[in-house]
Amino acid sequence: MRHLDIAGHGWYGFSINNLLIAPSVSNTAKTKSSVVVTRKLPEAVETRMMELFDVHLNVDDHPFTRDELVSAIQTCDVLVPNLADTINAALLAQSGSKLKLISNFGNGVDHIDVAAAHKRGISVTNTPDVLTEDTADMAMALIIAVPRRLVEGARLIREGRFKGWSPTHMLGHRMWGKRLGIIGMGRIGTAVARRARGFGMAVHYHNRRRLHPDIENEVEATYWESLDQMLARVDVLSIHCPHTPATFHLMSERRLKLLKPAAYVVNVARGEIVDEAALIRLLEQKQLAGAGLDVFEHEAGVNTKLLAMDNVVLLPHMGSATIESRINMGEKVIINIRAFMDGHALPDRVLPIQG
Ligand code: DGY
Repeated sequence: MRHLDIAGHGWYGFSINNLLIAPSVSNTAKTKSSVVVTRKLPEAVETRMMELFDVHLNVDDHPFTRDELVSAIQTCDVLVPNLADTINAALLAQSGSKLKLISNFGNGVDHIDVAAAHKRGISVTNTPDVLTEDTADMAMALIIAVPRRLVEGARLIREGRFKGWSPTHMLGHRMWGKRLGIIGMGRIGTAVARRARGFGMAVHYHNRRRLHPDIENEVEATYWESLDQMLARVDVLSIHCPHTPATFHLMSERRLKLLKPAAYVVNVARGEIVDEAALIRLLEQKQLAGAGLDVFEHEAGVNTKLLAMDNVVLLPHMGSATIESRINMGEKVIINIRAFMDGHALPDRVLPIQG
């Protein structure tokens, strides 16, 4: 059997008039696992899930309430949540004995109490790798968009305020030759570093562990063991570490103040890593030049002070929002559930953070 790839290239069924027909699979004779998916997924993913599992889909795409989550974890074998669902210890305490796998639709698992799940014998998986390049593209887009004033310029045209070219109009700052500081040099951070080299930026990074020299050499990156020391030297800071208890407000007011007043902050990771109130204060006081934010401390209600700032580009958590990424993420979810059902090692198992 070929690799299960519902993105289209390696689909092992066949297509008639755009209807995807999958061959029967060995487990169809067995009782299918009951799977609850908390938000709407791309059609190809949902179609495949319906073929493989006894799946409950979220047809009208509403955010699950706490009660719906409780009911789901009491009745299903597998929960497929996303980053907007808080799966904490209190919620998990209400799960029945049926729930055995949380197959997260997403890479970050900061909304799941992985340790509490493990204590209850519930495995957790995520969807790494497949969203790396798209998320890195979005970070790079912000790294250019903020200093070159792309959104401001586009707005000016649409509002009919463009009266013709002039030498001093809409001047931004060049990124070529500038220093990019990356916090978190994992898959996404490294993918951003590669792009930044293509844009002529010098790459600096802070990471828990120094990279292998081959990767460091490839992106000509300078490692800073001390985050504080790196901050004072960079022109743009791009954040790519996971949100954990250790990285909550890693970019505190004290650290934000170490950046140059001409520096920009870009965050496509998690809002909680930056003290957002302090960031806003420093932007207001012109102690920072601007920010590109795809994530916020409170995503359901973005701070209105940010909306009023021209030197801030705001996006609605779109880093991995390509149809390709989302289908690949769904494929990972399916593969993890299948591996679980068949008693294999879970390809993307997430273990609790060691203290
Ligand atoms: C994730 O998967 O954690 C992302 O933030 C969603 O794009």
